[in-house]
Amino acid sequence: MRTKKIIILVSGRGSNMQAIIEAQRVDARLAALEIVAVLSNRADAAGLRYASEHGIPTQVIANANYPNREDFDQALAQVIDSYGADIVVLAGFMRILTPWFVEHFAGRLVNIHPSLLPSFTGLHTHARALAAGVKIHGCTVHLVTAELDAGPILAQAAVPVLAGDTEESLAARVLAQEHLIYVHAIQQLAWGESTPNAPLDALRVPAYNKTISV
Ligand code: GRF
Repeated sequence: MRTKKIIILVSGRGSNMQAIIEAQRVDARLAALEIVAVLSNRADAAGLRYASEHGIPTQVIANANYPNREDFDQALAQVIDSYGADIVVLAGFMRILTPWFVEHFAGRLVNIHPSLLPSFTGLHTHARALAAGVKIHGCTVHLVTAELDAGPILAQAAVPVLAGDTEESLAARVLAQEHLIYVHAIQQLAWGESTPNAPLDALRVPAYNKTISV
């Protein structure tokens, strides 16, 4: 069975990237996923250092060096293709991608979004969830399509919104779930239902043991 090559794109701290690298390192069921590179549009992305320290090639393709979105996306796609990546993982990659890029990687470009889509597309999801007064919030792994945060859903995890939550406390609760579900959604995308020893159980995130008041 050949490994599936994944490439991770980050712009910032890269905690989802770290969780993926860590899970792949310690969980034998993820052995057939190979993280071939971590790329960033920003040289100061904290995630790059973590990746290099774990022996993963990193590369910066600075968007500031390109005259427009199209040229940047083409340069980025060329680098991704040079690694022979099967799956492209967006992990806090803060760029709007062109329709050309999305089409080029159609069906193998994934993103994690900090809300239960289709609710709260776009930015500031935790603040907006608090303002809306929802009792359940969460995160979504989805395929990327031309429409923002609207592609087919691969996995979701829900958390309660608790009395006294701040944007920060809610974000932290959601982030902990992001770190659990992303790698397993990638594994499922890579191998589908036929995956030997697919960690399907890991997708069933343990129920949150707090009562949710409605
Ligand atoms: C996460 O909240 C993710 O859902 C969103 O961007 C944030 C990235 O965080 N797409 P990190 O860089 O992975 O820590």
